Amino acid sequence: MSQVSPIERPIEPDDRADGEAEKGADDQIAPAIRHLVSIDDISVAEINALFLAADRFAAEPRAFADTCPGFISASLFYEPSTRTRLSFESAMLRLGGGVLTAAEMTSSSVVKGESLADTIRVVGGGYADVIVLRHPSEGSARLAALYSPVPVINAGDGSLEHPTQTLCDLYNLHVERGRIEGLDVVLAGDLKYSRTVHSFAYALARFGANIVCVPQHGLELPEYVVERLYEDFKVEPIRADARRLGALAANSDAVYLTPQKPHQLSLFTDARGWEVQRVDAVYMTRPQTERHSGAELSDTSYLRLEKRAMAAESLRDAIVMHPLPRRDEISAEVDADPRSIYFKQAARGVPIRMAILAWLLGRMELGDVDGGGRDPIKGSHEVPVGPNPCPNPSCVSRTETRHVDARFRVLKHDPLRAACAYCTRELQFEVIGCSSSGIYHAPDAGAVRLILPEHLVFLESVEDAEGLGFRAAATAAGS
Ligand code: CP
Repeated sequence: MSQVSPIERPIEPDDRADGEAEKGADDQIAPAIRHLVSIDDISVAEINALFLAADRFAAEPRAFADTCPGFISASLFYEPSTRTRLSFESAMLRLGGGVLTAAEMTSSSVVKGESLADTIRVVGGGYADVIVLRHPSEGSARLAALYSPVPVINAGDGSLEHPTQTLCDLYNLHVERGRIEGLDVVLAGDLKYSRTVHSFAYALARFGANIVCVPQHGLELPEYVVERLYEDFKVEPIRADARRLGALAANSDAVYLTPQKPHQLSLFTDARGWEVQRVDAVYMTRPQTERHSGAELSDTSYLRLEKRAMAAESLRDAIVMHPLPRRDEISAEVDADPRSIYFKQAARGVPIRMAILAWLLGRMELGDVDGGGRDPIKGSHEVPVGPNPCPNPSCVSRTETRHVDARFRVLKHDPLRAACAYCTRELQFEVIGCSSSGIYHAPDAGAVRLILPEHLVFLESVEDAEGLGFRAAATAAGS
């Protein structure tokens, strides 16, 4: 049977194992394509190797034009961008490659109703060797990676992740502080909708840094992010006494997130909370008003980092970072402060993205490092019947109606927990159906443990189950 081209159908999750080589059309063994969809897709050792490469690119930015000649990157931006798109394009040009830009997707065939999956198959099917995608739907880059025969780089998907901004942010900590492990980093502002904050928090936890959350009131770190920080990295939230942060934290309920260390927690006896001392970096973020609901739209009382706040003793040695663009959350008077590095931070986006492109295009080895991460599509299952159980209205499985099969991944069997395979949001359900037997159960029923994952149906209510033709377990037993 002739081999099916990867662009004729989505690449099935079980088609290949992580890091496994795949056979090309000429039956040569070709390395598996690596995508950068989540910060989880890259190991700590690989990140450190990227930093070393970025150091070389930063030292001599014009000396590497022979790295990617003849290669083309495509920028597909369904949302506005200055830094991410232009720094990727600058990086590709500095590596000697070319760029295709669709910076304004409203002038593309999207307005004629073309799906994301089709666009990716077309652009990746001969126009470009790597795709840099920004899209408002969460999980969109994950979907794109399923359909793309070339590497996909997530340049921001809704509020979910922005992994290359995180690599840029980590690189800045590495350059400015010489390490990441053990640093105390303040994340301030809109922690609810800022995708840069979410990716950065996961990465900081993985590197063993401590996080001090200073959220704008009502825009705290989402529960699903806090849960993941605990489940994946054993990072525990502790109420923080942030008086030493001065004006910055005056109107915020600060939380300290730290890897569980019993000796630390046993020292935690003060009812006011863990006392924040000297911090190494403040990472300020703007209000993500484009994602706010009506109640969150006002930013008149938004946190503000001013000269007065920078006088706090705990910030004496802190660098000030911001993914940019900024609005008023860092006042212009702070720009001249030597601790402010946000424009240097943006400039370092070029060498780190040169390293990312050279690596994903196979033009640079990262050395003998462990690769790959956890791909939520791998080991996932298509929803067998009924509606899409993903609770996230911004998930690509809801916003893209064609070429997307709702999929879930079982997180735990007892008690049963599952998450959307695209946006990774945990499913909420009251009833479990079995598509094979046609019977529904309470989630804690013993019989649920016997249902094969591919037969699981997650339902909100008994009415929904019966509306789909499922019968109650007891009724079925008596019939
Ligand atoms: N930091 C960042 O993502 O900036 P842009 O939106 O300008 O790309």
